Amino acid sequence: MITLTDIAYVRSGVADIETAVRFATDIVGLELATPSEAWVAHLRADHRHHCLALVQGPSGVISSGFAVAGPDELAAAETELERTGFRVRRGDLAEARSRRVREFIAFDDPFGNRLELVSQQETISRPVAFTRPAGITEFGHLCLDAPDVHEAYRFWNTRFNARVSDWLGDAACLIRIDPVHHKLAVFRGERPGLCHMNFQVATIDDVFRNWHFLVEHGVEIEMGPGRHPQSTAIFLYFLGPEGFTYEYSFGVRRIEDDAAWQPRTFDPDEPGSIDMWLGPVRRVSSQLQLASPEPAGPEPATSQPASTQPASTGPARLEPASTESVTTGRTA
Ligand SMILES: [Fe+2]
Repeated sequence: MITLTDIAYVRSGVADIETAVRFATDIVGLELATPSEAWVAHLRADHRHHCLALVQGPSGVISSGFAVAGPDELAAAETELERTGFRVRRGDLAEARSRRVREFIAFDDPFGNRLELVSQQETISRPVAFTRPAGITEFGHLCLDAPDVHEAYRFWNTRFNARVSDWLGDAACLIRIDPVHHKLAVFRGERPGLCHMNFQVATIDDVFRNWHFLVEHGVEIEMGPGRHPQSTAIFLYFLGPEGFTYEYSFGVRRIEDDAAWQPRTFDPDEPGSIDMWLGPVRRVSSQLQLASPEPAGPEPATSQPASTQPASTGPARLEPASTESVTTGRTA
């Protein structure tokens, strides 16, 4: 069992880094860290050095990072993943430095989402210098796509301290790794990708102030303001450059009595199951996973479910150096 202590970051490839950074700062409100690499912009929202890295190159999500407790736990996770048939690669020093972690490993989930487990992510004590007062308090959760959310949950639940908090039928699985109702979600999607990245805000007023701000600035509101009955969070989803969906939310439920919580199942087609205020709902845009030329994911002929496909193999690289661009604006 691999214990994830927190979510760490999203790393996303962008063809137009200037536009993407301008949106992340001037619109979303994140702090741009002092540049330390020519083609990487680090965006900060909380105690982490950054939670979003925008990397100049083909557009598409590069990886989603999760923290483990330390180097021993990382080594144990590496052994455990390899033992169960995953191809795992250790990041080199420069890659770890770019992520502001001491060490990390990379592998693909059975659906092709690139995951990274990190040890010793850098903390910054200085208050965040937000570009605008959006009210952001922290990086709240990330949401991945997989064609079968039940298979996806099996992957997370059998290997990690990941427990379902609630189901949205076959459409989504909301997963906790600590008392927060969900720090991870898996949404049904044909191709691997990042459905959205969430930032918590301090008050309900921030959600509505941000809504007006986004509308005034011509940003596409994908869904909300509304309220999810599962987490009780008041949400606002909006579309950034290159198919990247951001979310602000306030008031996420905490599950303090883990043993007593019974996951519930909601029918996504039932009115109010996604937005209990009965506003219009839609599937928000996902940014597709960059095709990875690196060997990762389960090896053939392992204990992986037969319905999953092993990832492609090739030379070891973590950065999106290929020419393939996979951004999409898919909605449903
Ligand atoms: Fe969300």
